[in-house]
Amino acid sequence: MDDPGPTEWNQSTGVGPWVGDPPDDPRYDPDLLRDGDTRNVVDAYRYWTREAIVADIDTRRHPLHIAIENFGNDANIGAVVRTANAFAVDTVHIIGRRRWNRRGAMVTDRYQRLRHHDTTGELLAFAADAGLSVVAVDNIPGAARIEDAELPHACLMIFGQEGPGITADAKGGAALTVSIAQFGSTRSINAAVAAGIAMHRWIAQHADISKAW
Ligand SMILES: C[S@@+](CC[C@H](N)C(=O)[O-])C[C@H]1O[C@@H](n2cnc3c(N)ncnc32)[C@H](O)[C@@H]1O
Repeated sequence: MDDPGPTEWNQSTGVGPWVGDPPDDPRYDPDLLRDGDTRNVVDAYRYWTREAIVADIDTRRHPLHIAIENFGNDANIGAVVRTANAFAVDTVHIIGRRRWNRRGAMVTDRYQRLRHHDTTGELLAFAADAGLSVVAVDNIPGAARIEDAELPHACLMIFGQEGPGITADAKGGAALTVSIAQFGSTRSINAAVAAGIAMHRWIAQHADISKAW
């Protein structure tokens, strides 16, 4: 049998109280050492405080930012945040409404940098200041195929909402617009699924896979 991997699905019930002398390391949380740790974290972070986990991910975040337009309260944002966390994305930007349904995030939002912008214009100004190249992701006329595109290293990807898709402001402000090839009857993919595919294209092109869990 293979050794257990580092991820939650190998130890979905977590770990019990620490056995033996507790480690003398400030990254460990005394309450978790005493009571056990059933959080949705990889095994490498078992018993660590949330602050220690965030600080560790912060040393390894990718120069990839994700933005999602939230003018109509999109239910996909939680899933986008969870996937962004899995890929150690720098920041998830939410444009428009501040409220979003955290359920799909499965508590990953506690470990992910999140930032709000009132308008797409505000987000574009942030991207310009931060030296990020903006990539709009939608299946609209003129989009290049993401399967063929070279994605920028310092990159901010913008996704639209169910229904209207990406705004004219987002498309107008993007250096590149890309679409994901489809072959069936549906007009489009769920926005969170599209975000996962697009993030993984960036990971395949730019991440150091030897450093993945
Ligand atoms: C459900 S789509 C809606 C808009 C879509 N343009 C349409 O024609 O109905 C919501 C968002 O998911 C993403 N998306 C869905 N399918 C996509 C695809 N094939 N290529 C790129 N992005 C896609 C885009 O960010 C889009 O704004």
